[in-house]
Amino acid sequence: MSEGDDKRRWKGAKDKIDGTGERRRGLSKRVKTARGRKLSSTLWLQRQLNDPYVQRAKDEGWRSRAAYKLIELDERFSLIKPGSRIVDLGAAPGGWAQVAIFRGAKHVAGIDLLEMEPLDNAIFLKMDFMDEDAPAAVLHELGGRTDLVLSDMAANTTGHKATDHLRVVALAEAAAHFAIETLSPGGAFVAKVFQGGATESLLNLLKTHFTDVRHVKPKSSRAGSPETYVVALGFRKSANPVSKT
Ligand SMILES: C[S@@+](CC[C@H](N)C(=O)[O-])C[C@H]1O[C@@H](n2cnc3c(N)ncnc32)[C@H](O)[C@@H]1O
Repeated sequence: MSEGDDKRRWKGAKDKIDGTGERRRGLSKRVKTARGRKLSSTLWLQRQLNDPYVQRAKDEGWRSRAAYKLIELDERFSLIKPGSRIVDLGAAPGGWAQVAIFRGAKHVAGIDLLEMEPLDNAIFLKMDFMDEDAPAAVLHELGGRTDLVLSDMAANTTGHKATDHLRVVALAEAAAHFAIETLSPGGAFVAKVFQGGATESLLNLLKTHFTDVRHVKPKSSRAGSPETYVVALGFRKSANPVSKT
């Protein structure tokens, strides 16, 4: 693994929990000083304050509430194997990377447009995963092909449903191509998509390259959120491998 200005090795954070049981709290906190704040910001803050997973993630040392979604997906599909090499697309602030390491991954390579705090056994590439160099950079950092490609990427929302849907679908499709370029045979791919699931073209692509494709809405995914996840298992041998250097 190499280090550079725009690459960060994560250190520290070995915070431990397991399970996904939800600690129920009364949904009663209200935001007091809403004056001057946009309605959307006030609602977001109120939702954060009343979200049991947000508090639980804070208490248990996960960097994001999203950590619980990966825990649930892993409990259901055994995605993270001891010694796995994992790519985490859209990794910041690092909750999924923490979960991957805690549950036995050997190396995690995270990519994000944003900075991220260091974490042991993980490297972070601050770049757009759509850069043409990204797949080769990841394989170089991992020292070989990957066993699992995760994508929890979200595009900035516009508030226009159809546009936001198209943006998430475009990210998921690009992530699927990234996975097809970098996975080893038998590997798996997980990506966030919006309700209605993956588009036909994404599903067809995944069905061509994986033996088993499912849609899942983890319990810890907010009920009101349109997000859901596509899980593709059993990657068939890549016809278009990328060199690892
Ligand atoms: C919901 S957050 C991921 C949370 C993460 N799974 C966790 O548990 O901490 C989505 C991330 O995707 C990143 N992202 C969106 N588009 C990206 C792109 N083209 N390349 C790299 N990262 C991207 C965003 O910067 C954001 O940090």
